[in-house]
Amino acid sequence: MQPKGEPLYSSAATGTPTTRPPTRIDELSAEERAVYSTLKPEGLPRHVAIIMDGNGRWAGRRSLKRFLGHQQGAKTVQFVTETAARIGLPWLTLYAFSLENNLRRPRAEVSFLMRLLKTYLDDNLERMMKNNIRLCSIGRTHDLPPDVQERMRAAEEATSQNTGTTLTLALNYGARSELVDAFRKLAEEVKHKHLSPEQIGEEDIHRHLYTAHMPDPDLLIRTSGELRVSNFLLWQIAYTEIFVTERFWPDFRGIHLLEAIADFQRRERRYGGIGESCGEVEEDPERMKVAVS
Ligand code: FPP
Repeated sequence: MQPKGEPLYSSAATGTPTTRPPTRIDELSAEERAVYSTLKPEGLPRHVAIIMDGNGRWAGRRSLKRFLGHQQGAKTVQFVTETAARIGLPWLTLYAFSLENNLRRPRAEVSFLMRLLKTYLDDNLERMMKNNIRLCSIGRTHDLPPDVQERMRAAEEATSQNTGTTLTLALNYGARSELVDAFRKLAEEVKHKHLSPEQIGEEDIHRHLYTAHMPDPDLLIRTSGELRVSNFLLWQIAYTEIFVTERFWPDFRGIHLLEAIADFQRRERRYGGIGESCGEVEEDPERMKVAVS
């Protein structure tokens, strides 16, 4: 069923149906269960996206080298993913490595992040299988080092039949380059099918995005307090609720994901429409006087 007022193309109707994976609430910690018990099961988000930020500052605060912040951040990825799996969140998308990270960070740090990703995949595959997690990736992954591509491909293949949470890692990802890639594919289609400009709609752009198979995020979380979206899922977050926490990513845990969801459930999503507490509607247009001065 299409949630009321939601833009059509972002619905489950356009891609993989969003049936909710089964929950394993008994595996939550007591603190997590306490927050979970305050949530409305029917109002749980289908898709949570996270900008994982603050690894460097977490390390800096402890007079540690930056790479130790990333290492701790990788552990957080597994903790948060497992909580997501336990509450039956269908889609979790993490901004793990941006195109800008690739271009602008020191080579040594980029190479460490690549090694960390490989180690993460090696060390966590068994836990992903146990948690029924399906791993996917989005981004210009073909420009990643061949051994990283190979490890990702193998992990995606190994987890492809899992039916729980889909964990999507955005790797060498940038939203503007995603749009460029989508427009290139669309331009090919327009040429091939001799389409006129008027025949192109939002759905045609959506179909060519890396995320065409998933619903748009309901909730975008950003850690470490920065108030920006940093070229992440720009098209897809048109109506997404944004939650920013001061907490650095390495300190983020499953309970904080649940708190963000609790905050999300207190919001009223309007998709450009009118909310319940937004004044009475005048039914007769003739009685609505326009006064400007
Ligand atoms: C931001 O921290 C985070 C990243 C550059 C990418 C996220 C990477 C991880 C969480 C680790 C590895 C991930 C996986 C999936 C194994 P930052 O360095 O920008 O922090 P700062 O703004 O405090 O410097």
